[in-house]
Amino acid sequence: MLPRPYAQVMDKIRDFVVAVDDTPQGGLKGIVALHVVGEDLAEIRSLAVDEGLQGKGIGKKLLEFCLNDARELRLNRVFALTYQTEFFDKLGFHKVEKLSLPQKIWGDCVHCAKFSDCDEIAVLLNLGKP
Ligand SMILES: CC(C)(COP(=O)(O)OP(=O)(O)OC[C@H]1O[C@@H](n2cnc3c(N)ncnc32)[C@H](O)[C@@H]1OP(=O)(O)O)[C@@H](O)C(=O)NCCC(=O)NCCS
Repeated sequence: MLPRPYAQVMDKIRDFVVAVDDTPQGGLKGIVALHVVGEDLAEIRSLAVDEGLQGKGIGKKLLEFCLNDARELRLNRVFALTYQTEFFDKLGFHKVEKLSLPQKIWGDCVHCAKFSDCDEIAVLLNLGKP
């Protein structure tokens, strides 16, 4: 959702999951990344569904895939910084103060154009102990 240098995308490439249309003329339908930031915390990043395919459940499937991944990794909490709070609400996330998240999550933000004026909202889901 935010411009990222090529090197940073490559650095995090294994975080990404894509939804593809597997018909012969198919292509990319959506994308998401799960980035582990601590022993019990991960961030949902770069969630996007092709504009013409939104509202068909693809975003939900991508997010659920990441949540299952997080559970398998025995992470207890998953958060996102977003404007789409209602979408995340529907999947059980709740709003939290950005400052309640560990300081280390802001490491990547220094590369962001919005760094000094970030208006994204933090949402968090507690997965609980497995
Ligand atoms: C936000 C986004 C990823 C949602 O993906 P999607 O495939 O359109 O969403 P889904 O069809 O899976 O929707 C799942 C549920 O959330 C709801 N929902 C989806 N987008 C919503 C929104 N913006 N506001 C409120 N509810 C929304 C759907 O109605 C659906 O509800 P239901 O289960 O009760 O039917 C997609 O709209 C998108 O790519 N937006 C632009 C990029 C963006 O803002 N990404 C978020 C970055 S964190």
